[in-house]
Amino acid sequence: MNIILLGPPGAGKGTQAARLVAERGMAQLSTGDMLRAAVKAGTPVGLQAKAVMEAGELVSDAIVSALIGERLDKADTAEGVIFDGYPRTAAQADALDLLLLERGRALDWVIELEVDEAALIERVVGRYTCANCGAGYHDRFKSPVVVGTCDACGAHAFKRRPDDNAETVGTRMAEYRAKTAPILPIYEARGLVRRVDGMADMEMVGSAIGAILAERTDRARPGSVSVPARG
Ligand code: AP5
Ligand code: MG
Repeated sequence: MNIILLGPPGAGKGTQAARLVAERGMAQLSTGDMLRAAVKAGTPVGLQAKAVMEAGELVSDAIVSALIGERLDKADTAEGVIFDGYPRTAAQADALDLLLLERGRALDWVIELEVDEAALIERVVGRYTCANCGAGYHDRFKSPVVVGTCDACGAHAFKRRPDDNAETVGTRMAEYRAKTAPILPIYEARGLVRRVDGMADMEMVGSAIGAILAERTDRARPGSVSVPARG
């Protein structure tokens, strides 16, 4: 099962990808996470990406597609992958087709998280993570059970992304509208797009995605009598 989670900044791509990793053993391929790791490590890619990301603009297609290609060759992708934040341009969508073809893999679904952009600003600006294990929290929607202590690992230090401020989020949204939303028709023409209400609570979004994935599994199972139409 190989799926793309598509949606603007704060739509919940990372949140839902993490659930799928935990529940299904799929691998999360987040170009944002890969680029942030490169920035932190000070690699040549990181040095190129840092200022672009802090401005909320897009890193070059060649860089991110190379990162995805390398990542697809790791053994943990065998149970399927979730593309989180990739592809983001028509050129990246073309590159992904080639990367999958070369590896004998195919896309099962492109799941668009439908959201209200105005509400997303609050989601993104209020977001923070555990500095030790990366568990995600939010000022308003998800505080640790014990204030100041990570639920997952017990650490006491938290951090925020440098691009999670209102001004940069505006640029990130504009980039999404201009360059990423226009790739949806490519996948619609192939009957791969399914839409989920990304404004519902996290559990409901997760259930809706789970139902779409189950539908695909039923289709693939020999002898299955339930063959719902795609789209
Ligand atoms: P990236 O890291 O991909 O960021 P993004 O697309 O802007 O998306 P976010 O990670 O901000 O949001 P998300 O959808 O994952 O939401 P989350 O689950 O965290 O990219 C960052 C930058 O890297 C880009 O700007 C670009 O510069 C560069 N880059 C990355 N990929 C690239 C590419 N392919 N090409 C070129 N450049 C690239 O949720 C947000 C918050 O909301 C959380 O606090 C969460 O707890 C909360 N939340 C989630 N779901 C719900 C819900 N249903 N209800 C209430 N709260 C919710
Ligand atoms: Mg994310």
